[in-house]
Amino acid sequence: MDFKAKISKHIKIDGLTEGEIYELLSITTNIKMGDFSLPCFVLAKTLRMSPNVIAQNITNEVIQTEWLNKVEAAGGYVNFYLNRQFVSGQVLKNVLSEGSSFAKSDEGKGKTIVMDYSSVNIAKQMHIGHLSTTAIGNSLNKIYKFLGYKTVGLNYLGDYGIQFGNIIAAHKTFGSEQELISGGIDYVQKMYAKSRIAVEDEDFEELGKFWFSQIEKKDAEAIRLFNIFKELTLTDVKPIFDLLNMTFDEWKGELYYCDKMQPVVEELKRKNLLIESRDRRIVDLEEDGLNVAVIVKEDGSTRYLTRDLAAAIDRYNTYSFDKCLYITAYEQNLHFAQLFKVLEKMNYDFAKNLVHVSYGRVSLPEGKLSSRGGAKALLKDIFNSAIERANEIIENKNPHLKNKDEVAKAVGVGAVIYGALANQKTKDSVFILEDALSFEGETAPYMQYTYARCASVIKKYNELNLNKKPLPNYNAVVSDEAFEIVKIINNFSSIIKEAANKYEPSIISKAVMSLAKNFNRFYHECKIIDAENLAVMEARVELVKTTQIILRLGLNLLGIQVVEEM
Ligand code: ARG
Repeated sequence: MDFKAKISKHIKIDGLTEGEIYELLSITTNIKMGDFSLPCFVLAKTLRMSPNVIAQNITNEVIQTEWLNKVEAAGGYVNFYLNRQFVSGQVLKNVLSEGSSFAKSDEGKGKTIVMDYSSVNIAKQMHIGHLSTTAIGNSLNKIYKFLGYKTVGLNYLGDYGIQFGNIIAAHKTFGSEQELISGGIDYVQKMYAKSRIAVEDEDFEELGKFWFSQIEKKDAEAIRLFNIFKELTLTDVKPIFDLLNMTFDEWKGELYYCDKMQPVVEELKRKNLLIESRDRRIVDLEEDGLNVAVIVKEDGSTRYLTRDLAAAIDRYNTYSFDKCLYITAYEQNLHFAQLFKVLEKMNYDFAKNLVHVSYGRVSLPEGKLSSRGGAKALLKDIFNSAIERANEIIENKNPHLKNKDEVAKAVGVGAVIYGALANQKTKDSVFILEDALSFEGETAPYMQYTYARCASVIKKYNELNLNKKPLPNYNAVVSDEAFEIVKIINNFSSIIKEAANKYEPSIISKAVMSLAKNFNRFYHECKIIDAENLAVMEARVELVKTTQIILRLGLNLLGIQVVEEM
């Protein structure tokens, strides 16, 4: 129920349309000032009256209705107080009759959203830098699906570049087949690291170039080795995607586009966009404040940007998407701004539907978990230590718990994911495992614990085996915290839409966290199963049930699993 809309319809203000009143109405943050308030200051000029008088006039003219308890003029505002008992009853009944399809919408019906996220770079293990693209992408995918969109998840493999020639050169120079077989991905990483130092040497550099050109020529030996690197990398990252229940619709990478770049270069030329500058071929974006976009380098080789141009066109041809999202760190802001601008200059209408969802850095506190030689902490190590630590905590807190391993997995994974979803995505943040796993404070386990608490109340209620359900007395759910819960629940469908519109799962995180906090306050202050009578119990149990539904929905949309007991 949209009470803002109801109020806008319900009151009349000279010279203002319903829509304008709607825009002016705000949700109050201070419960003492009611649930909604209307500032009258902006009306003073046109109505030629003081805000106080306007507020008083509006108040005098409000007609009594069942969902409104009180309307009050105060300091140039009109404050609206909802009838808590009535509203709580309506909202709870509504959610319980619709269950988890409550808040569903069909705004995405017939629309396709392509999403490029959690892209794996071959010969590199996933590290903490990939946490956000993984968690945000996974969550946005679920959010859009929930809103009825068709989503297409793309894992755009980083599988092209001189580095692969260099790794083969290092393998041929410093390594052996035997070590490759026994060492797996660690060996490949070692060769990668060695190659970075070795390229300082001209002969090695030449060898690297040679092997890279062999890959491009699809030479059997080069491709054999490259495929082994790829296989080893994908096997290494698979457990992470399994942990998160993530699958992708497409695994095309940069390599796939390597022979599709020439047509793009031709097209740029045809469209008079390509200019020669210092032996490079570029698109001049100075006037757009975006520097120059290098398309072909001095040595004739193409760039990450060139491949992304080919990929964007291919994606549009394949999916005719309504939107295509690229979820990467803000380090790539310029890259995507250039990409979108060049496509716009090429007259691709779809360019306006490309979005770079960029995020800030999540890092670990100095020295923590960072693996050998200061390399970035590996994502799999972070997940594994979180699960291990969750196991210890559960062992301590609740040693007789059933499915301990499953719960530890949900808690450990949830804690890590939430590290990237708790705050506005553009902010940098530090992930502290011990804090993230705490059952108190703003953490994923706290929300999961609240969910389990709801489940336990409902279990007790069911065990009462009431043969006749009493009519709920909604006057038992009108306290500040109970009503706050009702309002969050009532508002949840717009929360989900806002998160989608802003590409910001943290909007859902914040609502779910607030729901959990208010629920725990309610839980501590009100008797539920042992309430004074059955009608009171019934209303409170309804509040618990709806809270559980929304917690499950919200956490699911974040990619955090719920557990019935923990
Ligand atoms: N592989 C890239 C990286 O690790 C991310 C790919 C993002 N997607 C794209 N279409 N450029 O930085």
